[in-house]
Amino acid sequence: MTLVVERPAYGGDVIAHLPDGRVVFLRGAAPGDVVEAVVCEERPRFARAEIVRRVEAGPEAAVAFCRLFERCGGCPWQTVPDETQRAALDAHVHRVLGRAASRQGEPPTLRPIVHTPPARAWRSTVRLHWADGRLGFRPAGTRDLLDVDLCPVVTPEVQALLTDVRAALLPGFSGEGTMRLTAAPGAASGTIAVLPDAPGLATGVEAFVTASGRCHGAALLEPGRAPRTFGDPVNRFGPARVPHPAASFVQAHQPGNARLVEAVRAAVGEGPVLELFAGSGNFTLPLALAGVRVTAIESDAAAVARLRDEARFRNLSERLTAACADAARPPRGEWPTLLLDPPRAGFRQVASVAERVGARRIVYVSCDPATLARDVEALVAAGWRLAEATSFDLFPHTGHVEVLAVLDRRGDDRRSPSVRTERDQVRGTPPRRGGRR
Ligand SMILES: C[S@@+](CC[C@H](N)C(=O)[O-])C[C@H]1O[C@@H](n2cnc3c(N)ncnc32)[C@H](O)[C@@H]1O
Repeated sequence: MTLVVERPAYGGDVIAHLPDGRVVFLRGAAPGDVVEAVVCEERPRFARAEIVRRVEAGPEAAVAFCRLFERCGGCPWQTVPDETQRAALDAHVHRVLGRAASRQGEPPTLRPIVHTPPARAWRSTVRLHWADGRLGFRPAGTRDLLDVDLCPVVTPEVQALLTDVRAALLPGFSGEGTMRLTAAPGAASGTIAVLPDAPGLATGVEAFVTASGRCHGAALLEPGRAPRTFGDPVNRFGPARVPHPAASFVQAHQPGNARLVEAVRAAVGEGPVLELFAGSGNFTLPLALAGVRVTAIESDAAAVARLRDEARFRNLSERLTAACADAARPPRGEWPTLLLDPPRAGFRQVASVAERVGARRIVYVSCDPATLARDVEALVAAGWRLAEATSFDLFPHTGHVEVLAVLDRRGDDRRSPSVRTERDQVRGTPPRRGGRR
């Protein structure tokens, strides 16, 4: 059937309507596009369709910048103008957080999304699949492997590594698996992490690390076993050293991440802070370097070990304690500020952990507005107030966003730093610190 696309939907789809009035979700089109599509999934209230042909481009549709756009599916909002992408992300975040905080009385300050260039060539880390001498992406929902030699959303450093891997490593690879390529912005070389480890791979990987000027370290990963490493499989991102063997987390959009780190630092204030899901110290190290006392909890032992090394090396051990532990079981103690950055699933225990450690402020970083909204709603019910939230455009063209939410214990007079600055500039009064109720 012929459909007219109306608007983007969070997560990378776009929305149109079927003749019977139901919403239909599609991928790979822009508002105003007229497309021929087939319905592939029907539900009572909505449907999904696949585009067969783009009949007419919408008046503001952008030209796809990747020649694999229609086959890869990795950047489904490529033809949606950048400003429309950001407006859609903001509208979604404001809607779900506004609803989650609707019972708190005073509405939260929901700020406009922060975009930091570049919108292309932004990925400092990428996971590819390999099989039978090919290396690329598997389009969602298929077992196909799309061979990729050029990817316009990876940084020049990662692209150089990809080109080298394809030329010098891939021809000797048998079997199939995944490979993560990572390189810090401006670095001369990066690392690769290969999964699974298989007989015969080590010799090729070792030779590649020795010979390639673009790769300074590699890890062969096998679930349940210690990784086999070659060279130095660690990348430096800002002050943090991110180890590769355990496939440790790193934000892919580093310029945007720098703005997020800055905002987290402002929201945390003086601390001391208990930081859950600390990773390799993306927030921990800048906070400690700024003089804040941080206790960091992270489940990835390799990341914790690097964080401790870094604390020693930088003489921060007085201020920075790192523990390899489950976020749901933090150490005993009291912290006025709780900072957390959980995976997509969010952190259902946030209210009970905040209560246990006596927190008065929660600084919550999330890559999933839905689970963030679920946790904010529970926090509001438990006596917290969503003071403000800001989105960060860390995943251009994907339909995803990173959100920073700041919550205060209701009854506290401690306002969020940015709100405080604006009001106090008008009133000329110094900020007051809230005490315990
Ligand atoms: C979204 S990443 C954030 C890392 C870091 N804050 C950053 O900005 O790079 C989530 C981190 O939580 C860690 N993690 C996952 N589950 C955990 C748990 N139950 N307890 C502690 N850490 C956990 C992961 O290893 C990962 O490093």
